[in-house]
Amino acid sequence: MLLLAAAFLVAFVLLLYMVSPLISPKPLALPGAHVVVTGGSSGIGKCIAIECYKQGAFITLVARNEDKLLQAKKEIEKHSINDKQVVLCISVDVSQDYSQVENVIKQAQEKLGPVDMLVNCAGMSLSGKFEDLEVSTFEVKPYNVYVTVAYPPDTDTPGFAEENKTKPLETRLISETVSVCKPEQVAKQIVKDAIQGNFNSSIGSDGYMLSSLTCGMAPVTSITEGLQQVVTMGLFRTIALFYLGSFDSIVRRCMMQRAKSEVADKTA
Ligand SMILES: NC(=O)c1ccc[n+]([C@@H]2O[C@H](COP(=O)([O-])OP(=O)(O)OC[C@H]3O[C@@H](n4cnc5c(N)ncnc54)[C@H](OP(=O)(O)O)[C@@H]3O)[C@@H](O)[C@H]2O)c1
Repeated sequence: MLLLAAAFLVAFVLLLYMVSPLISPKPLALPGAHVVVTGGSSGIGKCIAIECYKQGAFITLVARNEDKLLQAKKEIEKHSINDKQVVLCISVDVSQDYSQVENVIKQAQEKLGPVDMLVNCAGMSLSGKFEDLEVSTFEVKPYNVYVTVAYPPDTDTPGFAEENKTKPLETRLISETVSVCKPEQVAKQIVKDAIQGNFNSSIGSDGYMLSSLTCGMAPVTSITEGLQQVVTMGLFRTIALFYLGSFDSIVRRCMMQRAKSEVADKTA
C-alpha cells in the first residue's frame, strides 16, 4: 500500500515536471530584440548588455557619464554577430526627472523599436551602519510585463570596489564568507532567467536558497519552481538559522574587539 502511494506520488511529481513548460512563459527570442540596460556602461549592466548583444540583440545603454558610455559601446560592439546590430547610448540620470527618462526611452524606441527587455542595473550600493543611512523609498509597478528579480552575489565590478571603501568591518567579514563572482558569470545567469521569464534569478547554492526563502507571496513561473520552494523551505530555513548564528557571532566579536580597543585607547 505504502509502495503504491509512493509510486503515485512519484508519478504525480513527474507529471507536474512534464506539464510545467506548457504553462511557463514563452522564452524571449533575443535575436533582433531591443534590450535597454540602465547602468549599462559598467559592471554587471555592461556584461548583461554584452551577453544580449552576443545573442543578436539591439542595445540601448543608459547611464550618466558620456565617456564611459562611449567606451562601453565600443567594447560591446566587438561582440556583434551581424552587421545590422546597433548600440545606442543615452546619457541621463535615472534618479532625477522622470519625464526626462520617459522622453529618452521614447527616443530609443523610435530608433530601435519597442523595448523587449528592460534591465534595471543603474545604481550603487551605499554601505554604512543602519542608523547612518538616509531613508529613501521606491516603487515598482509592473504592468503586463514579466519581471525578473536578480539576487547578484558580491561581484567584482567598479561599483563593488567603491562599496568596499565604506563597508563596516562586520559587513565585510560577513560578505567574505562567500567568494566574489565575475560580472560575466552573473550577467549570463540574469540574461538566461530573464529570457525564460523566471521571476527569480540567482547564482550558486546560497543565491538559490536565498531566493527560495524570500519567495513569500512572489509569483512562480513554473509548477516545478513552486514545488521546489514548497519542498525545500523547511530545510533552507534550518540552514539559514545556522548562517544567522554565525553572522551574529561575527557582529559580537567585532563589538568586543571595538570595546577592547576603546579601553586600550583610554588607558594609553
Ligand atoms: N557588484 C556587486 O557585488 C553587486 C551585488 C548585488 C547588487 N548589485 C547592484 O547591481 C547594480 C550594478 O552594480 P555594479 O557593481 O555593476 O555597479 P557599477 O559597476 O558601479 O555600475 C553602475 C552603473 O550604473 C550607472 N548609474 C549609477 N547611477 C546612475 C543614475 N543615477 N542614473 C543612470 N545611471 C546610473 C553607472 O554609470 P554612471 O555613473 O556614468 O551613471 C554605471 O553604468 C547596482 O544597483 C548594485 O547595487 C551589485
